[in-house]
Amino acid sequence: MSESKQGVIFDLDGVIVDTAVFHYQAWKKLADELGISFDEPANEKLRGIPRRESLLALMGFNPGEEKIREYMDRKNVYYLEMVKTIKSGEMLPGVGNLLAELKSQGYKLALASSSKNARLVLEKLGITPVFEAIVDGNETTKGKPDPELFLKAALKLDVLPSDCLVVEDAESGIAAGIAAGMHTIGVGNPQALARADCIVSRTAQIDSAMVREFLLGDSKSGPDAG
Ligand code: BG6
Ligand code: MG
Repeated sequence: MSESKQGVIFDLDGVIVDTAVFHYQAWKKLADELGISFDEPANEKLRGIPRRESLLALMGFNPGEEKIREYMDRKNVYYLEMVKTIKSGEMLPGVGNLLAELKSQGYKLALASSSKNARLVLEKLGITPVFEAIVDGNETTKGKPDPELFLKAALKLDVLPSDCLVVEDAESGIAAGIAAGMHTIGVGNPQALARADCIVSRTAQIDSAMVREFLLGDSKSGPDAG
């Protein structure tokens, strides 16, 4: 078998693990303390967006650098308290099987998350070695919807962007994948993810046949073909 030159790049929060809920609950706690109204529809717009931009969007104004740092740190403390409860292997349904299936078929797997806590979460889950490349919020200057995270992941995988498929639960993530010139599968809200090549309601609905179809637009080809 010739070495695969196709990559699948996974977002973390809300695709692999249920931490999107933790991010929401942590922002909600901060917003309540600050007397700012914040609910799930408002949170939908923050999915995939880095911490600083999320805070500014939540507040609706710039409170100054000192307060920005204080509020970001406070939210992160709340988030990390919840991350502590994650147990090894506690991924969203079907994710373990999907990762194993894609790996066994020769796809190169990467993780690209705006989160500065992404590596910690992967460690808690015990799946760091599954990914040939990991790019997180600590090594990028621009978060999603900028394509930087995904382009860095493709470079690390040594796969062309056009041979990469992005799996994302965020509108900003789908926008980033498209801007990177990649194929996209959206997981979750059909309105928010309307620009994706394909939308599923749960990660468990993705399988290698779907990946092959959307990656190549040709169900007869795949990493093992030829
Ligand atoms: C993204 C999440 O993955 O990471 C966002 O979808 C989150 O909700 C962002 O705000 C930044 O995460 P962190 O852990 O660096 O605050
Ligand atoms: Mg996400």
